[in-house]
Amino acid sequence: MVESMSLVKVGSLSQLPADSVTEVTLGNDTYALCNVGGRVTAIGGTCLHRGGPLGQGALHGNNVVCPWHAWEWDCQTGANDFDPSQKVPTFTVQVDGDDILLEVPERA
Ligand code: FES
Repeated sequence: MVESMSLVKVGSLSQLPADSVTEVTLGNDTYALCNVGGRVTAIGGTCLHRGGPLGQGALHGNNVVCPWHAWEWDCQTGANDFDPSQKVPTFTVQVDGDDILLEVPERA
């Protein structure tokens, strides 16, 4: 089955300066929105360790650092820095002017 996707505005570039991360919530889902040197990406917002809120973490190079126990997740690939076989999901982001748009499955 092919899920249809929709683009949802989740923020403004002016609110997400380079080398920062923020949390976005859509329905029951949370995402960590990263800006690494001007490149905006999104990964799942829930840490695979104990469920920490990645969007409330900090950036360390290309990685988001979980605020709970400092596990690190790559903003582009979602991979854990210590064990790359563990990955949080990644999501497509488009930037349109100042709008940050996240591609998410269509909601009923
Ligand atoms: S919950 Fe993220 S490092 Fe423990």
